[in-house]
Amino acid sequence: MTASIIDGKAIAAEVRREVASRVEGLRARGVVPGLAAVLVGDDPASKIYVDGKERDCREVGIHSERLNLPGDIPEADLLAEVRRLNDDPAIDGILVQLPVPPQIDVLALHEAISPDKDVDGLSPVSVGRMVRGEPSFLPCTPLGVVEMLVRSGIEIEHREVVIVGRGNLVGMPLAIMLSQKAPNANATVTLCHTGTRDLGEHTRRAEILVVAAGRPGTVTADMVRPGAAVVDVAVNRLDSGKLVGDVDFEGVAEVAGAITPVPGGVGPMTRAMLLVNTLKAAERRLAPATSATPA
Ligand SMILES: NC(=O)c1ccc[n+]([C@@H]2O[C@H](COP(=O)([O-])OP(=O)(O)OC[C@H]3O[C@@H](n4cnc5c(N)ncnc54)[C@H](OP(=O)(O)O)[C@@H]3O)[C@@H](O)[C@H]2O)c1
Repeated sequence: MTASIIDGKAIAAEVRREVASRVEGLRARGVVPGLAAVLVGDDPASKIYVDGKERDCREVGIHSERLNLPGDIPEADLLAEVRRLNDDPAIDGILVQLPVPPQIDVLALHEAISPDKDVDGLSPVSVGRMVRGEPSFLPCTPLGVVEMLVRSGIEIEHREVVIVGRGNLVGMPLAIMLSQKAPNANATVTLCHTGTRDLGEHTRRAEILVVAAGRPGTVTADMVRPGAAVVDVAVNRLDSGKLVGDVDFEGVAEVAGAITPVPGGVGPMTRAMLLVNTLKAAERRLAPATSATPA
């Protein structure tokens, strides 16, 4: 294998240690950061995710509250709960675990979350600010991808980045973030999707290749530029129960310069970035004038 492994688990642990130390500083000044996690229904995977987020909060000293709401909750009642959390001074960040049941309009839900507490960065206000390059909460998964590249010493500026997948949670926001004229961005970004004519023609140009399609085997060794950094965002469960990404790891690791594993790559970074966003939301209590949010 030629590629070095980008160890998301280790990098996320480092981020959590830094968050814990800043939380300690806030607590010494009387501010206890708080995150509310809202779980609607009893989807087992969602429950596992929310359990993990609560554990992370405990580890770094962030107060967490959990709301378990019934799967048949009317939209109006869910929005009322969100508004109550908007007004709760002990809560700095609100997270509603997706997916939500079909009676809930996700846009209405995200619109209901105060932009000041939108630590998932998915509300229309946060997305609008991000597109305009203004300070905003950035969505945790693309933020985690950037953080892991930066901490691995992989230069982003001026480079050729290709992203596979234009989903609202990962590919699209990442493309917007990396094409901003800003530090740790300023790249030339190509965004590929199922309408892309020849995927390999694009991916072979990438110095940084990010794959978030949700289809195992989407990227094989012949589609990768030698020495490229390859970030596999996807998490797919095979019939055997095994978790795999979208990238043929064994093959691509022979060509790439660096590669993320699945699991243990982007997943832990996503969770760590939720803590970072919650911390930043809480820090605004001490410096509301500089509020509009995080860098
Ligand atoms: N590790 C984490 O923390 C984390 C967080 C979020 C998501 N994920 C994972 O990331 C993956 C993507 O999630 P998502 O929410 O962005 O999914 P999504 O909204 O369904 O988007 C998938 C995108 O991939 C594109 N696509 C699918 N097959 C393709 C192919 N063969 N070639 C080119 N493009 C293709 C789709 O194109 P069209 O637009 O043309 O349909 C779509 O834009 C999933 O596996 C998900 O589990 C991981």
